[in-house]
Amino acid sequence: MQDRVATLQKKTAEAHLGGGQKRIDAQHKKGKLTARERIHFLLDENTFEELGMLVTHRSTNFGLDKDIYLGDGVVTGYGKINGRLVYVFSQDFTVLGGSLAEAHAEKICRIMDLAMKNGAPVIGLNDSGGARIQEGVVSLGAYADIFYRNVQASGVVPQISAIMGPCAGGAVYSPALTDFIMMVENTSYMFVTGPNVVKTVTHEEVTSEELGGASTHSTKSGVTHFTAENDIDCLKKIRVLLSYMPQNCEEEAPRNTYSASTETRPSLDHIIPANPNQPYDMHEVITQVIDEGTWFEVHKDYAENIITGFSRIAGRSVGIVANQPAYLAGVLDIKSSAKGARFVRFCDAFNIPLLVFEDVPGFLPGTDQEWNGIISNGAKLLYAFSEATVPRVTVITRKAYGGAYDVMNSKHIGADMNYAWPTAEIAVMGAKGAAEIIFKKEISESSNPEAKWKEKEAEYAELFANPYSAAERGYVDEVILPSQTREKLIRAFAMLENKVDSMPRKKHSNMPL
Ligand code: HXC
Repeated sequence: MQDRVATLQKKTAEAHLGGGQKRIDAQHKKGKLTARERIHFLLDENTFEELGMLVTHRSTNFGLDKDIYLGDGVVTGYGKINGRLVYVFSQDFTVLGGSLAEAHAEKICRIMDLAMKNGAPVIGLNDSGGARIQEGVVSLGAYADIFYRNVQASGVVPQISAIMGPCAGGAVYSPALTDFIMMVENTSYMFVTGPNVVKTVTHEEVTSEELGGASTHSTKSGVTHFTAENDIDCLKKIRVLLSYMPQNCEEEAPRNTYSASTETRPSLDHIIPANPNQPYDMHEVITQVIDEGTWFEVHKDYAENIITGFSRIAGRSVGIVANQPAYLAGVLDIKSSAKGARFVRFCDAFNIPLLVFEDVPGFLPGTDQEWNGIISNGAKLLYAFSEATVPRVTVITRKAYGGAYDVMNSKHIGADMNYAWPTAEIAVMGAKGAAEIIFKKEISESSNPEAKWKEKEAEYAELFANPYSAAERGYVDEVILPSQTREKLIRAFAMLENKVDSMPRKKHSNMPL
């Protein structure tokens, strides 16, 4: 028996050493943790159960039969985060560069299958040189096995990808199919083809960081939803992100304890500037309304004219979508529409109620926007809100103009409760533009066109630059004082707690992609 135990201990020690101490040291030198250290910091202490530690590859190509490592470059298993079950895989760059092929992928697929059957999130910690070149086409099939499962699991259990090293070639598509991506600054990158191929094909000179580093993907492409300063920061942030989510599509997100206190927020009565063209920061509104210290922004540095993020109202998880008047006047454009739509769909898939703050002058005009498809991209946001069946509440703080009024969770597309502040302006367009169009003849024939225009602008503003025409028709349920907003929202979300709604029976919808 002792021999047998010794064999097991030897194998375990061997597996724990991955690609060897030299490569572990090299990993640390780059400022990166090893696959096992990452799991240690991600999960609650002593909760990790490893699966497939002794799995090895079966390839004999190019001397691989002499390059065998227990675990085959990925650590997989399950454990707990904040006491809740999660499945995790963590690629081990010290073993053949974390490259992926048959056995490595089988291990990932196994935990994905378990996650789907048992209804718990999957977290992938990616750090890999991509397809294991020696295993050839087998590694392509292995990737596709994972992609297929990513799609099967989409909307069933939350899937989160951390990019903690290289992620190149087709390997980027598994993270792209998951719900959220978090990239570590300076040590991770994602691209379909690297700088060398780019140089050959397009003659562009670009570094890996410029082409696909965390800052590129968080600001330019929007591929990553979050960035982290280092590995530890990344793992900590994933723990927080998960706290806003349910385990699966059948459940609700965990609720924090909450004891009622004074809910009026007097400072909100002074937040809207007297001049309607003057910006203010919508974050200040959000901060006043949510439970203190519960703001987790998604896509913080991308398409900043719309704000998306998770928060809590009276302990309950909510997804917030808000126009940001402090950036491009809060206009809806291609990027912000797609960003908002993606977030709304995640919340709806996982039973997270939606809260919208609206101050939007309309859609951004121009050839760039039209030629690049503002029509179909704007339609994404319209579509996402229209199909959402979770509790949905809107607060119009100021402008709600044109098509953007309809799109931003209006009553007409299924919102449950719509509030407006007295400063709301709900109209087809701004008074100046409206006056110019409908009183064109009168203005041009006037002896003082400028004065006439001003007079007509005031006339239009009087009629429509307020919330009352909309309130008369029930498009807004109540005009509220800004200071009452938190109280009203707590009550509204409590009232909507047992909401049941569904879409008509269909195979699947066909959103404008
Ligand atoms: C096998 C690999 C590997 C790979 C790295 N290694 N990538 N082994 N297959 N894809 C091994 C190296 O041989 C080396 O082994 C160890 O991992 C560390 O690699 P280094 O190059 O020394 O590390 P570093 O300098 O940090 O560079 C990392 C790297 C580079 C940038 C990732 O290794 C690299 O460019 N690798 C190839 C990337 C690639 O082209 N992958 C295929 C993409 S196509 P030793 O024994 O020396 O430690 C693809 C298709 C997927 O992924 C399609 C899915 C649909």
